[in-house]
Amino acid sequence: MAAVRDRKSGGPGKEPIAVLGMGHVGLPTALGFAELGWQVLGADDMVEKIDHLKTGKATFYEPDMQELLTKHLASGRFQPTKDVDAAVAAARVVFVCVGTPQRENGAADLSQIESVARTIARNLNGYKLVVEKSTVPASTAERIKRTIGRYARTETPANGTNGRRAAGKESGARFDVASNPEFLQEGKAIHNFFHPERIVIGVESDQARQLLEDIYRPLKCPIVVTDLATSELIKHSANAFLSTKISFINMISDICDAVGADVASVARGIGLDPRIGHQFLSAGIGFGGYCFPKDLKALLYLAEEHGVPGGILRAVEDVNLRRIEVFMDKLRHALWVLQGKKIAVLGLAFKPLTDDIRESPALRVVEELLKEGAAVRLYDPEAMPAAQQVYPEAPGRVDYCRSAYEAARGAHAVVITTEWEEFRKLNWKKMQEAMEVPVLVDGRNLLDPSAMREAGFEYFSMGRGSRQVAMTASAK
Ligand code: UDX
Repeated sequence: MAAVRDRKSGGPGKEPIAVLGMGHVGLPTALGFAELGWQVLGADDMVEKIDHLKTGKATFYEPDMQELLTKHLASGRFQPTKDVDAAVAAARVVFVCVGTPQRENGAADLSQIESVARTIARNLNGYKLVVEKSTVPASTAERIKRTIGRYARTETPANGTNGRRAAGKESGARFDVASNPEFLQEGKAIHNFFHPERIVIGVESDQARQLLEDIYRPLKCPIVVTDLATSELIKHSANAFLSTKISFINMISDICDAVGADVASVARGIGLDPRIGHQFLSAGIGFGGYCFPKDLKALLYLAEEHGVPGGILRAVEDVNLRRIEVFMDKLRHALWVLQGKKIAVLGLAFKPLTDDIRESPALRVVEELLKEGAAVRLYDPEAMPAAQQVYPEAPGRVDYCRSAYEAARGAHAVVITTEWEEFRKLNWKKMQEAMEVPVLVDGRNLLDPSAMREAGFEYFSMGRGSRQVAMTASAK
């Protein structure tokens, strides 16, 4: 087993790596480290999550993740544990991968980060490197440092109190905090881990830098070394820029609807310019997931908190929020009255290859359909169990179907809200035969308009020439 080598001490470190938080960031990261040969303790205080992992089953779907979990539970390199204190005490390098959800005002909720910082402070038993991998606003690492310093206990309290240093004083134990943001895409997390374009590390000491370079060396990819705040801001800036590309092409999509142009061809035509690039220029019902919406709000909050006008990022958010209205207008245009209609909804996850429904635009469509009195027949290859927590089965109003064909049965329209490859390969003639009327509204531009129209569908999509609908939406 490779060990984390701390050159300062001369000898190889024997300690395991601790990864705190077994969610969409922590679990792929922990299994990635185990695959690189490191000994990893995967800790989470949600005991049911750890119990689930110990049964050998992944707690969520990610391609290739189950295989790594099986392999490294067997190899012993990955050990799930509920004992966060013990994991921190045993490790020299502690990766913090806990959730940073969004508060009402858009600011990131950092309470889990603060709680973990206090746990680390309680277990400082020699040098520790605390690595902030959760997505956090710039300057969070400074707050982690201050929290650990404040709560750290020393074995021999110099000031005679209960071992707690006066606030702000350097504690007896040594530690560094580093920033190491993740760039994992859900549905590709394992691939992203082993094929990163870059590793970003914000560090304040040579020791911290060497430890992180040791850990990531097997990946043989560029390592960008910065200060803490710069590293934190790289993460938020990357997600905000990618969101900006998506809202940009969605605005162009609305213009395409208005003038009868084709947004996919516009994307192809501009994307061939290497300064623009072709990725993240797919128009549709907008971006969702646990990252883009939350990180955009957090960056906006940080900017405006420091007197920097939200400007472009406000517009990115507005365009994204309007996607559902534009989509629903197309469906109303196609069906006139939604009340009492049966709508087959293909796709519930916020994107393909995941079962994650957090901030899913598909669920916003379901919500709008139910509000207008339509009945929904739902199908998604992976995300139905999660969706049923939010929209429980209500036969005749909310029906979960075993296939797209079952969802299409008696439907007045089929809508595509997540671009699963499975939907591209459907037998659309069979779909049409099952439907009440052949109306198809493609919210993710998955299918070819002329092919679908030749197959007899009244086919609508985003920014591919259905002129009058966009005019209605923008008239509001
Ligand atoms: C994103 C970033 O890509 C990743 O680097 C970061 O670490 C975490 O956040 P993720 O949220 O998993 O990853 O999904 P991503 O593939 O980026 O898609 C985000 C949303 O944008 C999805 O709802 C997707 O449907 C939407 N999207 C993406 C578009 O609408 N159009 C596009 O062209 C691309």
